[in-house]
Amino acid sequence: MYDSIYFPVDPVCGEVMSHNAEDELDVLEEMKGILESTNSDGTSLVTLLQAVQRHFGYLPREAMIEVARAKGVSSAAVFGVASFYNQFRMIPPGKHPVKMCMGTACHIKGGSAILKVWETKLGIGEGEVTEDRLYSLDRVACVGCCAMAPVAVVGEEVHGNMMPTSVGGIMLAVELAEKRERKQEEQGPENQEEAAQ
Ligand code: FES
Repeated sequence: MYDSIYFPVDPVCGEVMSHNAEDELDVLEEMKGILESTNSDGTSLVTLLQAVQRHFGYLPREAMIEVARAKGVSSAAVFGVASFYNQFRMIPPGKHPVKMCMGTACHIKGGSAILKVWETKLGIGEGEVTEDRLYSLDRVACVGCCAMAPVAVVGEEVHGNMMPTSVGGIMLAVELAEKRERKQEEQGPENQEEAAQ
């Protein structure tokens, strides 16, 4: 009942994204746990896809095929549902996913204007990933911190009371952290131990 017509395309180079065998095995292994814990038979397709996206950060091709298998429908049907709702993403998020809250409180307090600033600064639109894969940008529903509206979540960090001018500062902090990380990698573990002594 399932087929394999779903081939996500890399938004940067425009080619079909490849998955290596090891990645596929990892996805299949992790999908077993997701399908068991969500009682896939009695769960709606959308709820199941939400659980998959929560786990992986997006909907890997192999996971969609497993969902199709579990629900006894074609992978084309699963892809159709996933592409209908803009809450689902088909490509891996950037290293620092930016989620701009567009819930009511954030919307009223100017969330749309801040989303526009993110788009301009990152040079991408909603649902896209920057060429260096450092950032992705998505709009999300209420993240549960309405008192701090408007809110953006960057990686795991929640930024409240956002202003258009906050975006540049957050990006600068991310870039400095990236530089530090690269420097540490270049130094290698031995040099880092020496420096710490
Ligand atoms: S509406 Fe944005 S945090 Fe609730």
